[in-house]
Amino acid sequence: MCGIIGVNGCMAAPVLLDGLKRLEYRGYDSAGVAVLESDGIRTVKCRGRVDALIEKLDRLPPFTGTLGIGHTRWATKGEPSDENAHPHTCGRFSVVHNGILENDGALRDKYLRLCPFSSETDSEVIAQLLNRLYNGDPLQTVAKTADLLAGSFALAVLCADAPDTLFCVRRSSPLLVGLGEDGGLAASDLSAFADRIQTLYRLADGEIAAVHRNSVDFYTFDLSPVDKQPEPFDRVQATAEKGGYEHFMLKEIHETPSAVRRTVQAAGAFDAAAFDKPSRIFITACGSAYHVGEAAKFVWEELLGVPVEVGIASEFRSRTLPLPEGSLVVTVSQSGETADTLAALRESKRQGVPVLSIVNVPHSTIAAESDHVFYTKAGVEVAVATTKAYVAQLAAVYAIGLALAERWQTAPGQRIERLKKELSRLPAAVEEALPCERRMRELAETLPAGEPVFFVGRGQGAAAAMEAALKLKEVSYLPAQSVPAGEMKHGTISLIHAGTPVFAFCLNEALNARMQSNIDELRARGAAVTAVSLTDDIRAQSLLRLPQVPELFAVSVAVIPMQLLSYYAARRLGCDIDKPRNLAKSVTVE
Ligand code: M6R
Repeated sequence: MCGIIGVNGCMAAPVLLDGLKRLEYRGYDSAGVAVLESDGIRTVKCRGRVDALIEKLDRLPPFTGTLGIGHTRWATKGEPSDENAHPHTCGRFSVVHNGILENDGALRDKYLRLCPFSSETDSEVIAQLLNRLYNGDPLQTVAKTADLLAGSFALAVLCADAPDTLFCVRRSSPLLVGLGEDGGLAASDLSAFADRIQTLYRLADGEIAAVHRNSVDFYTFDLSPVDKQPEPFDRVQATAEKGGYEHFMLKEIHETPSAVRRTVQAAGAFDAAAFDKPSRIFITACGSAYHVGEAAKFVWEELLGVPVEVGIASEFRSRTLPLPEGSLVVTVSQSGETADTLAALRESKRQGVPVLSIVNVPHSTIAAESDHVFYTKAGVEVAVATTKAYVAQLAAVYAIGLALAERWQTAPGQRIERLKKELSRLPAAVEEALPCERRMRELAETLPAGEPVFFVGRGQGAAAAMEAALKLKEVSYLPAQSVPAGEMKHGTISLIHAGTPVFAFCLNEALNARMQSNIDELRARGAAVTAVSLTDDIRAQSLLRLPQVPELFAVSVAVIPMQLLSYYAARRLGCDIDKPRNLAKSVTVE
């Protein structure tokens, strides 16, 4: 993870700090900047958030240089500390790194045995190598160093002997370069500099950029020039403000209807004719995006009559999974940069299987490497806990399912037409789910601190339960567990005692009788059960009636109250809602 930024051409420090604030969602353990001043490179860094860095800088003489780099860290190798913070500066070079090196030990042994290291990071190896290999030609040295590195890396590099050039390098970690009135810029993602650039380029794997004030040269690692065209981009989509809300998470929950509306409207661009009916569909993703896959399984199996297997992307490569000929792989990712999802995508392509990806962030690596992309239109999502993007991904799943069912004639035409109409109504239904906010706030007050909360369901209800539990634990730190309702009695029910909060998702009429039995079993052991239901005939301590939608679309409305519950539980417990501890928005390490 980590966010990196570089600038060449204007007062560097304010641009770096502004960019780091916007990149902070990528990691917030420590932060730092290095600027080329008249007397050489000056580096300031510290443990903690970008605000801690700003406070530290306020006590120091101001920077005046126009060439600089910055970093906000999510610790991988080496604990969060001042020493392990980036940039790492060595001799004439300073570097910021996003990614993980796989051969840092071997490089230390081979090239850097006598070098004094001041941190525990793999990234310092890069700074030491640049210094060790320096032959008076900064570009050559950067290229030679890049070629020796194994693993994932996006780098921004300063050399004291190249005051007019910011060097950028990429393999497997995202890096964008832009040109505008403030000069040349580079960053891990567009939101860091969208309002400062007119022209945008995306570095491909194995490329170097030499970024000047008004131009940029691209090379491969063997320094062959690369002819690269700028990419179109949407400046408004790339920036986000809180707009009067206390937290991005709450603002983004309230933006869900428009995120769904835009996504449904964009579905017309999906070309179902590009897909032959596969023998099997494999969906792979991480976290909430994986939970979208769990819901998609029910929707697509019913509409398409194709067996669907859903797998966590980090486990995709842990098995020897021969993808049968005629399969389709689907990845789901808000950021489009999640390393495990990207690795699964690459493995699928290696096996010759086409990949369709549902992605929110344009210019992302997963979008660029997929055979087919369905862009959700959730807009920028800043809070680490995904909300509107998750529901937009579900809307994409419904739209894709209907388009393919129509194309492959796997569902009756009348049913497809009716569901299409319902899909166009989904933004309104999602909006109808929001007024439960006050009730969820009150319910959040009743969740006992430190006590586990359970989420159960069957079918799509089990998928909704998974997402509800993740949301609650990630933002409020309350122990939360999801269990398929029928599985409770095979072990987990031993944790139920008087007053244990349980949320039971009843999203499918055909399964409700069995859900009712499971709810009764829990109540008999003292659980305080709230039924989250499409109908009002379920008996529980309390009932949360959802807006009317077809059962196939139920998860998208069922999850909204749970997002609000999580938000208010976290608020009551004084948690850092938009940046929960130990997490980052974009997980670019495996
Ligand atoms: O960017 P992605 O959708 O690929 O991210 C996947 C997960 O890291 C993400 O959904 C994560 O689980 C969220 N923090 C959950 O709110």
